[in-house]
Amino acid sequence: MTTRGRRWRLGRRACAALALLATGPAAGEAPLEPIPPATNLAPAKVALGERLFHDPRLSADGSTSCASCHRLSAGGDDDHPRSVGVAGRQGSLNAPTVFNARFNVDQNWDGSAPDLEGQIDGPIHDHREMATDWPEVVATLEGLADYRGDFESLYADGVTAANVRDAIAEFERSLVTVDAPFDRYLRGEPDALDPRQQAGYRHFVDYGCVACHNGRNVGGNMYATMGVMGDFFADHDKQGKAHLGRFRVTGDPADRHLFRVPSLRLAVDTAPYLHDGSIDELEEVIQVMAEYQLGRRIPAEDVALIAEFIGSLRGEYRPYPTD
Ligand code: HEC
Ligand code: HEC
Repeated sequence: MTTRGRRWRLGRRACAALALLATGPAAGEAPLEPIPPATNLAPAKVALGERLFHDPRLSADGSTSCASCHRLSAGGDDDHPRSVGVAGRQGSLNAPTVFNARFNVDQNWDGSAPDLEGQIDGPIHDHREMATDWPEVVATLEGLADYRGDFESLYADGVTAANVRDAIAEFERSLVTVDAPFDRYLRGEPDALDPRQQAGYRHFVDYGCVACHNGRNVGGNMYATMGVMGDFFADHDKQGKAHLGRFRVTGDPADRHLFRVPSLRLAVDTAPYLHDGSIDELEEVIQVMAEYQLGRRIPAEDVALIAEFIGSLRGEYRPYPTD
């Protein structure tokens, strides 16, 4: 079953429901699931997609690949608050990880792309990312004999924009992190989490974090207003388009500051945090969540335990067998 098509959302009007959820189900009943391994992919497409993902020749000046901003050895994102692309131009948003992105209901902070294939048009064209266009990319790849041969052997119509998208997306579908300590715990290994991580898990459920961060990706499957219990944007004097969230996609005033809830799977590796990368520390963003999403303060010791629980969500990436 897929969650696509259903758009769960939690805005200010959902406060009552949230207060209810904040009392929480028992930890054992929390709606969190292990990540399944990547299967049923086409190995040759994964291999081609991997090369394309890492190839800066796809950008306008040969400087920037997908991997420049989504470093697979460093959590699948970059370390910048806001990403830097061609000619050192800085964008207005923080790069999310590409790991486990396949499990998100839509792609991007505002859900502007429905799937991985559709997401790729964004970075290719954005003048602050790869700053090019499809005719340019196709011409470049056609001029490179090894790429041309690979495309021709995999696709009847050779190098096309659709086939580049298809190969990169197939590679992205292989980017899953499996067997996290927390997943092993869910599968019945009680010792996979130490006592502090188990206490953090109970707090995560009991305080109500799990109302928004749930499912396989511990997030990524619904939208929520940033600032359910207070005006985060006025309090921090944040203005400008980057902060409008899903309103930019739908134009619906109720969608102002509505964001796709981020996955917490690799949150320990993907500081800085939030859509604008404005918070450096995991503990600090947990406290911001408590205040603006749950309307309460959480004792520092509980915040530390929740951070340790979040650390247990990180699984291992095993490259897909491609030969
Ligand atoms: C200059 C840095 C940069 C480059 C280059 C770049 N990205 Fe991104 N990526 C970002 C940023 C920033 C976002 C968030 C965009 C948004 O929310 O609108 C993003 C979002 C994504 C997402 C959505 C993840 C999620 O959780 O919603 C995926 C998938 C992705 N990029 C894949 C790619 C691929 C594939 C390429 C190469 C074709 C690429 N990116 C090139 C910075 C970059
Ligand atoms: C009402 C829904 C909701 C609740 C409840 C909630 N969150 Fe969030 N969380 C979000 C949204 C939406 C964002 C993204 C906001 C933004 O980028 O401005 C987010 C962002 C985060 C981030 C940053 C992730 C990243 O990659 O930048 C962390 C960590 C986090 N939440 C943890 C928690 C914890 C821990 C709790 C409980 C104390 C919690 N959240 C409660 C909706 C929620």
